Amino acid sequence: MQELIYGCMGLGGSWSDEPHAGEHVDEAAAAVSAALDAGITLFDHADIYRSGKSEAVFGEVLAASPGLRDRIRLQTKCGIRLNERGLQTHYDLSREAILERVNESLKRLRTDYVDILLLHRPDPLADPAEVASAVGQLMVEGKVRQLGVSNMSGAQIEALQDRLETPVVANQLEMSLLKRAWLESQVLVNHAEHLDYSFPHGTLEYCTRNGVTLQAYGSLARGLYTGAEPDSQTPAEAATAALVAELAGEYGSSGESVLLGWLMRHPAGIAPVIGTVNPRRIRACADAARVAKAMSRADWYKLWVTARGSNIP
Ligand SMILES: NC(=O)c1ccc[n+]([C@@H]2O[C@H](COP(=O)([O-])OP(=O)(O)OC[C@H]3O[C@@H](n4cnc5c(N)ncnc54)[C@H](OP(=O)(O)O)[C@@H]3O)[C@@H](O)[C@H]2O)c1
Repeated sequence: MQELIYGCMGLGGSWSDEPHAGEHVDEAAAAVSAALDAGITLFDHADIYRSGKSEAVFGEVLAASPGLRDRIRLQTKCGIRLNERGLQTHYDLSREAILERVNESLKRLRTDYVDILLLHRPDPLADPAEVASAVGQLMVEGKVRQLGVSNMSGAQIEALQDRLETPVVANQLEMSLLKRAWLESQVLVNHAEHLDYSFPHGTLEYCTRNGVTLQAYGSLARGLYTGAEPDSQTPAEAATAALVAELAGEYGSSGESVLLGWLMRHPAGIAPVIGTVNPRRIRACADAARVAKAMSRADWYKLWVTARGSNIP
């Protein structure tokens, strides 16, 4: 099923381990409400977001909204460790770490289970058998319903899948009109220019063939094309922002839905993860699936070529 996912990384205040304030819970409640209005039912977390505070404020919203847990699906991630200042220090997909981190996430989220657990990044020291054992235990205990990964290549997923008894259902990667390595690498086969783009070949194909949903983070290009004021903007970025606004007018929609619709128009069935906490911007994403269906091939290519700043090969 192709859908939008609400990314909760912006909720909960600072990245340090100081506690969150009441205003952060109010902000989370407003964001969740806007996401529900936009038809979103899957919420993306990670144990590390805002040093645990994204999950904590979300848990408070759930506790204050009886029945809400049954209407939504929760996804969280484990595998990255932070220090007290919120800086990443190492990866840890050992059996003990997976069990400990998921149990802590459940406490913060004030729920008994997550619908999907993602392994946040490949851990070079991970033993796939240990990962399988930890995930298997969490599933038997009813704490995790499905498993996915993030920032992994098709080959890495395949190697992990060999040891798992459960199918990998999702792979979350950075994919947008700005971060186009996933797309450029498909057409630059045999071109020296492909060296400019690092995306493991065959990943899109592995995921689409094996029922692994591609979840796209950074899908709003952090506002670069829809009104955020960057310190500097290249001519291609300025031209893309202008085109996104023009197409929003033509499709009777918002710039946000044009950007997300562009991703969803691709046949891989990409599910964009949106990370804005601004309720108006969240609601502006609601029309993305309609725009994806309506978007002409010519407009899809025009957006791509304008964003890359040079013609396709
Ligand atoms: N798996 C991973 O490794 C990984 C990595 C990064 C993120 N993620 C997930 O993906 C989600 C989305 O990623 P993301 O937040 O990096 O990307 P995003 O959705 O492209 O961008 C959201 C950010 O852009 C800002 N923004 C968007 N439109 C704007 C506009 N018109 N004007 C000003 N600012 C604008 C938002 O600020 P406002 O909130 O003020 O609107 C917010 O800070 C995260 O929440 C997280 O769940 C996963």
